[in-house]
Amino acid sequence: MLQSATRILLALLLATPALAQTNTTLLVNVDHRTATSLDGDWHTIVDPYATGLYTFHQEIRKDGFFMNATPNPAGPPLDYNFATAPTLKVPGDWNTQRPDLFYYEGVVWYQKDFTYAPKPNTRTFLHIGAANYRTFVWVNTVKVCEHEGGFTPFDCDITSALKDGKNFVVLSVDNTRIADGVPTLQTDWWNYGGLTRDVSLVETPTQFIDDYDLHLSRTDHGLIEGYVHVEGAAAGTQVTVAIPDLKATTTATVDADSRAAISLPVKSLTLWSPDTPRLYKVELSSGADKLTDEMGFRTIEVRGNQILLNGQPIFLRGISVHAEAPFRTGRAYSEKDVDTLLGWAKELGCNFVRLAHYPHDQRMTRAADRLGVLVWSEIPDYWALQFDNPAVLAKSKQQLTEMIRRDRDKASVILWSVANETPNNPARTKYLTTMADLSRQLDPTRLVTAALLVRTEKSPTGTTKIVDDPLGNALDVIGTNEYIGWYEQGLTGPDTTTWDIHYDKPLIMSEWGGGARAGRHAPAGTTPAQFTEEYQAELYKHQIAMLNKIPQLRGTTPWLLMDFRSPRRLNPGIQDNFNRKGLLSDQGQKKQAFFILQKAYKDKTLGKAE
Ligand code: GCU
Repeated sequence: MLQSATRILLALLLATPALAQTNTTLLVNVDHRTATSLDGDWHTIVDPYATGLYTFHQEIRKDGFFMNATPNPAGPPLDYNFATAPTLKVPGDWNTQRPDLFYYEGVVWYQKDFTYAPKPNTRTFLHIGAANYRTFVWVNTVKVCEHEGGFTPFDCDITSALKDGKNFVVLSVDNTRIADGVPTLQTDWWNYGGLTRDVSLVETPTQFIDDYDLHLSRTDHGLIEGYVHVEGAAAGTQVTVAIPDLKATTTATVDADSRAAISLPVKSLTLWSPDTPRLYKVELSSGADKLTDEMGFRTIEVRGNQILLNGQPIFLRGISVHAEAPFRTGRAYSEKDVDTLLGWAKELGCNFVRLAHYPHDQRMTRAADRLGVLVWSEIPDYWALQFDNPAVLAKSKQQLTEMIRRDRDKASVILWSVANETPNNPARTKYLTTMADLSRQLDPTRLVTAALLVRTEKSPTGTTKIVDDPLGNALDVIGTNEYIGWYEQGLTGPDTTTWDIHYDKPLIMSEWGGGARAGRHAPAGTTPAQFTEEYQAELYKHQIAMLNKIPQLRGTTPWLLMDFRSPRRLNPGIQDNFNRKGLLSDQGQKKQAFFILQKAYKDKTLGKAE
């Protein structure tokens, strides 16, 4: 019922002039720009019938909640009042802030007052780090933008809607799952809704640097190259890029597309790597706009079935991570969340993390840059999207573009993943091949991957796993998910499993593992039962032995670092709405398997770089 209502609502929204489609942009390196935070308490209205947007005859209201009306005894009675409405914290999902919103899927309205003094020659953007899932934004009753997608940032130019003095912003955020969404209806993670990341006002000069790419040349480790785009700049406008610590500076001019090609020779550059995560202050300027960034410089490429970091073969000792907040649970976003999660990954002996299944908060990739942790970043082309629907492809393309644009300046990010566990059929392969090509077009300096399902055949010695998914042709690095010893074949299944890989490409075992409730133990001397720590630990031992028999294995990201909330995990007393495959519980309890993997990583007895 709600589904079709939302669909009608969305159609009507788009049809109504006051609510016509308004685009967003994405300001690169926004966390280094002058900004006024709007984080904190926002008034909210939970609106399951989207009453704030349409009438009882399902026409779009002209006097919707975006008008932020205040009670007027002489006027019509009001059905809402933000001023007296309860508040929710931003950033933060609504599900873990109020028990009555734990399962809520639908529209929630957010409202905040702010004072502002417009400045000459200045553009003002409303920056939203992420809002799950579909968001409409009004400033002072003017519709300024809308966005679909729950895990990537967007910026709305609100310059013309602002007033000198008192202003207000109203947003409707709807996390209703939709069949033609990205992700679609089914996910093995909680559908945390709301303004889940920072919200702020960002100022730029009228003409400003909105995007750039600065990377180390793969063929010359003494040359940084790329481009700088200056929004609104006429051809011939000058751009300067400087790296003071390297006494390196270059000046270039933009072309008719406001883009300047950059070529910056550098000497005695410390190449970024997990062992040497050296970041350099980079200064970019053009006209009145000045921007600094903290960037590392490294190269990443494949050679046959090896992954080369700075020209050297590397093995990716990784772990998969969901953006679930340790201890408090809910959507992770804070420095504390990030430091805890990456701290545990480092403690495990990891040099790599798979951020699943959607782009995580920018704090995560910034921290990975600082800590020297390589990153697999992914968009939620997850399970069975409508791969034959061009409108859905457009949504995936938008999310991929936003993910790459936000994290292009992060040395830690080496892999863009365009999908996870998608059904092997021609429409899907065509769709994701298009996505892989777009990724290379947008960023030819990084590698493209996806987590594939694998086929299983019986063999005389046991089982053969066959990696021949045609999507592999479009990937630089093959990711494969398997749950031998958990969803299939018993604990010793890995011992009798061989791998038949039809690609001479690097392979990352992107998911493997099993569940255990922390503190749940098998009686000594007995065959451990599922969901005991002993079972999970044994499973890791068998898996590690099997993985070491795969010649082109160049990385692993077992599933996963920490237990996370999922609506598909309903076994009482064991799962209680949590996927329990973490090596740590959501309360930070290390399970026995944590130490099995830690030993393999520290002793480097799992995997070979070449
Ligand atoms: C899948 C999927 C994960 C899921 C995991 C599991 O492989 O990619 O999102 O959580 O399996 O079943 O635990």
